[in-house]
Amino acid sequence: MEEKSFLKQKIDKESPNRNIVPVTTSIEVDGKLSVGGCSIEELVNKYDTPLYILDEITLRKSCKAYKNALEKYYPGKSLPIYASKANSSIFMSNLVSSEGLGLDAVSEGELLTALKGGVPNEKIVFHGNNKSDKEIEFAVRNNIKIIVDNDYDLKRLEKISNLLNHDLEIMIRFTPGIECHTHEYIRTGSFDSKFGFGIEYLNTLFAKISGTKYLKLKGLHAHIGSQIFELEPHKDLGEIMVKVILAAKKFGHNIDELNVGGGLGIKYTESDDPPSIDEWVKTISSSVVEACKKNNLEFPTLMCEPGRSIVSTAGITIYKIGAFKEIPGIRTYLSVDGGMSDNPRPITYQSNYSACLVNNPFNIDSKNKYTVAGKHCESGDVLFKEIELADCKTGDLICVFGTGAYNISMSSNYNRIPRPAALLVHEGEAEIIQKRESPFDLLKYDVLPDRFIKRN
Ligand code: LLP
Repeated sequence: MEEKSFLKQKIDKESPNRNIVPVTTSIEVDGKLSVGGCSIEELVNKYDTPLYILDEITLRKSCKAYKNALEKYYPGKSLPIYASKANSSIFMSNLVSSEGLGLDAVSEGELLTALKGGVPNEKIVFHGNNKSDKEIEFAVRNNIKIIVDNDYDLKRLEKISNLLNHDLEIMIRFTPGIECHTHEYIRTGSFDSKFGFGIEYLNTLFAKISGTKYLKLKGLHAHIGSQIFELEPHKDLGEIMVKVILAAKKFGHNIDELNVGGGLGIKYTESDDPPSIDEWVKTISSSVVEACKKNNLEFPTLMCEPGRSIVSTAGITIYKIGAFKEIPGIRTYLSVDGGMSDNPRPITYQSNYSACLVNNPFNIDSKNKYTVAGKHCESGDVLFKEIELADCKTGDLICVFGTGAYNISMSSNYNRIPRPAALLVHEGEAEIIQKRESPFDLLKYDVLPDRFIKRN
């Protein structure tokens, strides 16, 4: 019997982003897959499919890895901040905050979710390249630090601070001009980006801020992209940021917070080999420490904003297999009961994942190649262009790994398909953290104008 499986790989317990599967993944005596001590098949019997599952231990290990590494390489003056766009919920806000992390939000919705989840206001930062007046007011009223992205933000904050008649601390986001190897849609640090001030504009900006009565430039922010495996760009970023602190000094600004963004990649497939959280933090910390020492600069507080590497590996999605369609000599389509509405990443970024059958996770005797299609009315709704699986049939379950980040948070109701439920698993217990939508929920905001009702 031949066994081909990524499930055989040794688990890195310290840095979950280096594994394909959650750290608690195991195979039960009956040969079936379990995560967080829960049999996936039993969870499906109770909660149906498609089903998002998050493993608490993996989540906590990722948070601790950032906390511990920052403590080790940058003692006493750091804050890891969870980028909630990766997976925003009251539960996630609560969990990261219980691990001592802060949270980054980019909309009133994410801000509200963070506050409801119990993240302390002073540990929240508010981003966005087109914040509304309402969002800015909400953040100011709640004492949430705003990351100024452009002149439009600056103008409105100056106005608000004048009205309030007191100091307002701000951070500014700039584009450091660093190129990194990742999909162009998720690359943000190069000069041609919609986010942040261009580095060449910073002196003008510093002068502008000096000219305001109440704005206090507290910190700098830059984020160079996402799903990055190289360490060099973050080393460069640390150095550039310290140079910017020095430039700001000439205008009388004492910047004492550096936020280096997120971006550390995760292992989606066997060919992915991201650095560990420890290595990533070490690189960025040493780069800042060395640059500060060289320039006789007091160490600023160091912040980073991981999203994917906190939550992605903790998450899996379970689908039920439905229709098969064999096109002789070409391919066999296997269709599942979800797809691009619960995971838009393959169709958006051509992202690759790893998957296995729940009742044959080691893929014993795999001999079939399938194209795994979603159920949406779109030819590109394909989760796997080609995957090798053992014999499977309608009704079997398939588990896709690494779906904790940018799946539920980017999900949609395309084709009026309700969003799956999300569960948390821990030590054999499963709890709902997001309820399954029903088709009726989707009607909630539809309105038929009165005159149409009369006409019918
Ligand atoms: N900070 C800022 C300002 C960001 O824009 C992002 C991600 C992060 C932190 C977190 O980056 P991470 O650690 O997750 O790489 N939807 C895309 C990813 C978009 C990332 C957007 N910004 C995907 O599914 O790959």
